[in-house]
Amino acid sequence: MSAAAEPRPSLTVPAVRARKGGEPLVMITAYDAPSARAVDESGADLILVGDSVAMVVLGYPDTLQVTTADLAHHTAAVARTRPSALVVADLPWMSYHVNREETVRNAAELVRAGAQAVKLEGGSKRLDAVRAILDAEIPVVGHLGLTPQSVHAMGGFRVQGKELDAAREIADDAVALAEAGVFALVLECVPDGVARMVTDAVPVPTIGIGAGRHCDGQVLVYHDLLGLEERRAPKFVRRYASLHADAVDALARFGADVRAGRFPSSAETYHMTDRMAEALDLYSDVVVTGGR
Ligand code: KIV
Repeated sequence: MSAAAEPRPSLTVPAVRARKGGEPLVMITAYDAPSARAVDESGADLILVGDSVAMVVLGYPDTLQVTTADLAHHTAAVARTRPSALVVADLPWMSYHVNREETVRNAAELVRAGAQAVKLEGGSKRLDAVRAILDAEIPVVGHLGLTPQSVHAMGGFRVQGKELDAAREIADDAVALAEAGVFALVLECVPDGVARMVTDAVPVPTIGIGAGRHCDGQVLVYHDLLGLEERRAPKFVRRYASLHADAVDALARFGADVRAGRFPSSAETYHMTDRMAEALDLYSDVVVTGGR
């Protein structure tokens, strides 16, 4: 029998921060215990309980429908698996937009559910929120570029920072967030030149999604990476498996086996002893025929 694998050491916020310019960070989303176990066993550095749960798990067209309670529910399921990867939970839309008190309370709800850090979207407009959360000793990840919680303001899910002013604004926001104290920064859907400029400008790791290779790490959504959905994926998604097709095939084979009487087999059935079968036969004679 082989010895059980040694659990790998848990990744901490300072350890992630120290990976700036070093071995690229791997972040993958997870929303429940099975996906968290798979992500952690793959050796990923960070698990993101993203508000993408709204779209890839709950069937909403955007991320705006989920609440802090929803994110806490999914974060708790992930945290119960006690992963070695650092668990970061998304603060959903409207959980950090009203005032400092609500912001801190919502961030704390995610920490109590098991998150070790929270992520929020936006730049200079969100510095107060970032500072308030940091004051409560909760580490923060920033998120710039395509910020899906601003889908209506942006006019859809579009690549950001394509014009000079927009690119400069992203870089300025990144520097401001780093100065405020975020320990990492997600860059979503920006040209690779913008991601490179930001990565060079900030002392914290950048983690890209649709931001090219010049980032300090990469993040993908679990369902996209595994092909758990057949929906058209953006061009930055690389599918490493086709689990939706595998699942449909397996489920259809189960249906065919049931209809053809091939399932369950004798090996998949609990059998009684002959003595018990005889006794039951006698009993059913009495029940069915009334002993006649
Ligand atoms: O919610 C999410 O999955 C995210 C990633 C796209 C970075 O924020």
